[in-house]
Amino acid sequence: MLPLLFAAALLGSGPASAAPEAPEARSSLVIRGDGFVRSPVNAIQPERPKLRIRQNEVAIENQDAGTIYTIDVEVGTPPQSVTLILDTGSPDTWVNPSCEFVSSSRDCDSFRRYDHTKSRSINATRYVDHLLYGSGNATVQYVRETVKIGSATITNQIIGVGLETHNIPLGIVGLSPPLNGENQYPYILDTMKAQGVIKSRAFSLDLRGVDSPDGALIFGGIDTGKYIGDLQKLPMLPIERTPRGADRYYVSMTGVGLTYPDGSATRSQQIDVSVFLDSGGTLSRLPTAIFQAFAASFEGAEYDSRSGLVFVPCDVVGLQGSVDFYFGGKVIRVPFSDFIWQVQGFCVLGVLPDDDEAVLGDTFLRAAYVVFDQDNRNLHIAQAANCGTNLVAIGSGVDAVPSQKGACTATSGHPAATAAGGLDVTGTRSSPTAIFTGEGPTGIGVGPGPVATRISGTGSLAAPTATASSRSGAGKGVGIGFGAAVAVAVANVLAWMI
Ligand SMILES: *[C@@H]1O[C@H](CO)[C@@H](O)[C@H](O)[C@H]1NC(C)=O
Ligand SMILES: *[C@@H]1O[C@H](CO)[C@@H](O)[C@H](O)[C@H]1NC(C)=O
Repeated sequence: MLPLLFAAALLGSGPASAAPEAPEARSSLVIRGDGFVRSPVNAIQPERPKLRIRQNEVAIENQDAGTIYTIDVEVGTPPQSVTLILDTGSPDTWVNPSCEFVSSSRDCDSFRRYDHTKSRSINATRYVDHLLYGSGNATVQYVRETVKIGSATITNQIIGVGLETHNIPLGIVGLSPPLNGENQYPYILDTMKAQGVIKSRAFSLDLRGVDSPDGALIFGGIDTGKYIGDLQKLPMLPIERTPRGADRYYVSMTGVGLTYPDGSATRSQQIDVSVFLDSGGTLSRLPTAIFQAFAASFEGAEYDSRSGLVFVPCDVVGLQGSVDFYFGGKVIRVPFSDFIWQVQGFCVLGVLPDDDEAVLGDTFLRAAYVVFDQDNRNLHIAQAANCGTNLVAIGSGVDAVPSQKGACTATSGHPAATAAGGLDVTGTRSSPTAIFTGEGPTGIGVGPGPVATRISGTGSLAAPTATASSRSGAGKGVGIGFGAAVAVAVANVLAWMI
């Protein structure tokens, strides 16, 4: 019943809610070209001053020591700037988390909120969803609103406005396909295409490494100045072939490996692991055998049974090596400095064990340039780099993603790890990595989240009309962060909106 009160408050015409003093507005300029919009992805650490944002860009920012990537968009008329978590693991976009239910509300409070009473373009619906994420949940009421990404404007976009949310410090911009394969309503990408901002429902993502925080999200385009060699086309797995029957950005990973500081490399046997790419997940989650093989490869690694994390000596971060991921003929090498997550003075291996739903989160994406092509159900990946800017629009049709070679060249030659099988990932290890006995980091929420689902209702929240799905797409928590978890819609209560 509680949300009903919030709902009344949302829809009522009472006095404007006291918006917290807005911090300095972030730049939200974006490069707009014919058929594409480029929003910078920028990284900030909460304890540091905000980084200067280049002109013509919208920021993707990295909150909480590398845990969350965000972009700024504007909502309403006149436009109100809000910062949203960029999530390739869920489809819904919503604003206004309740900071009171965030473990550390300091950062949550510092972000601008959308004030519906100040918008002339809001058109509220009576529809409410309860969205469960791998970590946290949100009850949102849907409204139609004008959303601006730089100079690109879409109108009548359905977005959620938070009524009650838990443990999610910012709203979310969802860029995944609908997890059950059917749109409940047109999501941001759908609307951008329908209203002619982009020609395909496709975007490219360049999160960048920890040492160069500015990345970018390009709706409808690619930047050939941000990767090395060819973009490898990888078909998205059909929903029936995904581990939990959820339509996500799943591809087949065919091997893993390591490149050592001395330049030698090792790789696993040929494998076929379905993994999905999730910008909302701080860490990656991989089958236990792979997790253990990686952990065992780092001298001095210690397993903390309380948090489930593996700590490695922090000097590893400065070494030259990489953790390598193979996709058919393509290898993405994630430098140790990007794979190892530094939090509260600990150096955490960027992977957790998960035998149900494997995820490549930010600890992978920082080293990859990825084009997500929803229309053709392909991902295109390459090793990320930075050698200038050359924006190319993605057209429409089956070959919409340009097959242009990246303009960058590798700075150092990489040895081919031809001896497949050097890294054994076939079985779990009986003797685990050394056990950590000290005080680990606290409050970083690594545990599995709830089984994720969506419960849909109407404005009369007293009796939600749907129950949790039997075909829940999202499993336990996916990485730290808010990644993947919004579940499968059950009832098509919102179908009328389409
Ligand atoms: C709000 O949306 C509904 C459903 O599309 C539409 O019928 C109505 O005209 C809209 N109201 C305004 C003020 O735009
Ligand atoms: C949302 O999260 C809070 C805090 O973890 C929890 O108490 C609440 O039960 C959750 N709501 C639902 C419907 O899962």
